[in-house]
Amino acid sequence: MPTTVRDVLAKSGEEPITMLTAYDAVTAEIVDERGIDMILVGDSLGNTVLGHESTLPVTVDQMASHTAAVARATENALVVADMPFLSYGHDDKESIENAGRMLKEAGAHAVKIESGPHTVELTEKMVQLGIPVQAHLGLTPQRVNQTGYARQGTSNEEAERILDLARQHEEAGAFSLVLEHVPSNVAAQVTEAIDIPTIGIGAGGDCDGQVLVVDDAVGLSDWTPSFVKEFANLREEMAGAIDQYREAVESGEFPGEEHSHVEEDLDELY
Ligand code: KIV
Repeated sequence: MPTTVRDVLAKSGEEPITMLTAYDAVTAEIVDERGIDMILVGDSLGNTVLGHESTLPVTVDQMASHTAAVARATENALVVADMPFLSYGHDDKESIENAGRMLKEAGAHAVKIESGPHTVELTEKMVQLGIPVQAHLGLTPQRVNQTGYARQGTSNEEAERILDLARQHEEAGAFSLVLEHVPSNVAAQVTEAIDIPTIGIGAGGDCDGQVLVVDDAVGLSDWTPSFVKEFANLREEMAGAIDQYREAVESGEFPGEEHSHVEEDLDELY
């Protein structure tokens, strides 16, 4: 049975909730088979998959296409599609249509929105329409031109703003809240103050769950933020395999007889 928002809420406070990104069917299948609760099709695909410097160029069509690939390969996890930069927030009708595409066309179960004062009412409207919304506060990379990628919530005023927005989005019906790159004591207090689960990334161990970009977690990225733990070094593994392939082709060792077939009747074509 696929995980629902209700299952995620039921797990909250009982056991840590697990979330990883995935952007393609193969990765989604592996992540899903390993029992991860939620798969986020993050707009981080702008960096990880599409080679952009930031997430800003990512389009709704790209998000829908990658979300559909992930949803087709996922049997159990809750699939959350990220809403890309400027696809929400300036016009409700367009925001809702864009979010609706992620559920209707791509097969996501929920959307994630980088949140602010402008997304409170929108969250409420989407939830009323049946679109589960995951809020996102702290470092919100779509604001890179305003904040850079610096840690957020480091002053009293900023921390209180995050707490206030967390409460407002809970009130608006968001089913969970991603807290990115904020001090762990701030994340702990937000987690304590609201009933919906907090999912931390660079926000310490007191959140109700954790999320990482899968490329970072498995060691595929060429650079990772300080809060990431690499659980493998797939970049090195992959480089080793590709070296072996090149050497085998160049030396004539590959393909061997076992990788080829001969059709006896076709020996004399001319
Ligand atoms: O786009 C993304 O991958 C994200 C996570 C880092 C939370 O927003």
